[in-house]
Amino acid sequence: SDLSTNGNSKNILWHECPIQKLDRQKLLQQKGCVIWITGLSGSGKSTIACALSRSLHSRGKLTYILDGDNIRHGLNRDLGFKAEDRSENIRRIGEVAKLLADAGIICITSLISPYQKDRDACRALLPKGDFIEVFLDVPLAVCEARDPKGLYKLARAGMIKGFTGIDDPYEPPCSSEIVLKQQQQKGSDCMSPNNAAEKVISYLEKNGYLR
Ligand code: PPS
Repeated sequence: SDLSTNGNSKNILWHECPIQKLDRQKLLQQKGCVIWITGLSGSGKSTIACALSRSLHSRGKLTYILDGDNIRHGLNRDLGFKAEDRSENIRRIGEVAKLLADAGIICITSLISPYQKDRDACRALLPKGDFIEVFLDVPLAVCEARDPKGLYKLARAGMIKGFTGIDDPYEPPCSSEIVLKQQQQKGSDCMSPNNAAEKVISYLEKNGYLR
């Protein structure tokens, strides 16, 4: 099984079940995959994840969202925002996403995931093609002007240290499967949540993920 490859644990054997990913996919009429949405805080990750989930759901497709903020309330409640904590946050969510994709689910992740090496490590967990990176290419100035949670303001005032884009880096991906750009002009709807969802859905259709 492609899930059995990463173990470095001695004396632990992989147990195979006769019902496999292909059987589950047949049942669900879809292909399990991970749609990895990355971008700055305020770039619209959660909103687009929701629009995508809603639209796929209405087509009878099973999705599940792993949202950074939400997972930090439970599974990752022990992690903060230091580089090694972010890496561990992303590693764990990558592993969970891999399990959900193996279940046949279209798993949508919504995490800043600022470092290239962490995103690449998650990509390497998935079968080729099943990790679909979506880069929300929204300028910092636009995210900061939106500031939906007031966090940029706090970061600028020095009340949050190590905030992505302010005093912690965001490494823009250079080979994402999908890049969604938000221009700075007002009134531009080139990346409304529904438009963004449609773009991702066309990609999934074209690449055989929806059957
Ligand atoms: S990461 O970098 O991928 O581990 O981050 P993630 O799990 O996506 O969590 C990002 C959300 O946490 C809030 N927050 C911060 N973001 C960035 N830097 C710092 N220091 C920070 N502190 C709190 C913020 O609300 C992020 O939510 P989004 O949805 O991205 O705005």
